[in-house]
Amino acid sequence: MPIVHLLPHPDLCPQGQAIDVKPGKSLCESLLKAGVAIEHACELVAACSTCHVYVRKGGESLAEPDDNENDQLDNAWGLDAQSRLSCCVKLAETDITVEFPKHTRNHAREY
Ligand code: FES
Repeated sequence: MPIVHLLPHPDLCPQGQAIDVKPGKSLCESLLKAGVAIEHACELVAACSTCHVYVRKGGESLAEPDDNENDQLDNAWGLDAQSRLSCCVKLAETDITVEFPKHTRNHAREY
C-alpha cells in the first residue's frame, strides 16, 4: 500500500506522520480516517478550500486537478504550484509527501 508522508504541522501532526492509504481513496478521507483533523467544511464535495494541502513529492503520480478543483483552489490561502484540494486527490500507487498550509480559509470560522 502506498504511504502518505505528512510533514510536521503544529496542530495537525506536530511530529509529522506516515499513513498507509488505499489507492483510489481520496486523500482527505484517508487523512481523516487516520485521525488527522484536517478541515473539510463542505464535507468533501470541492465547494470550499479548507482541505487545501501541498503535495511536495509524488504529485506527478496523481491525476491533474480538474476545472472545479482549480476554481476552488483560487480561494485557498497560500496557493502555490503544488497546491491541491485533498478531497479531490485520488491516491495512486505511489508514495506522496504532503505539507499542510499554515492557515486555512474557513469563512465559517473567521470573525
Ligand atoms: S472539503 Fe471542501 S473543498 Fe475539500
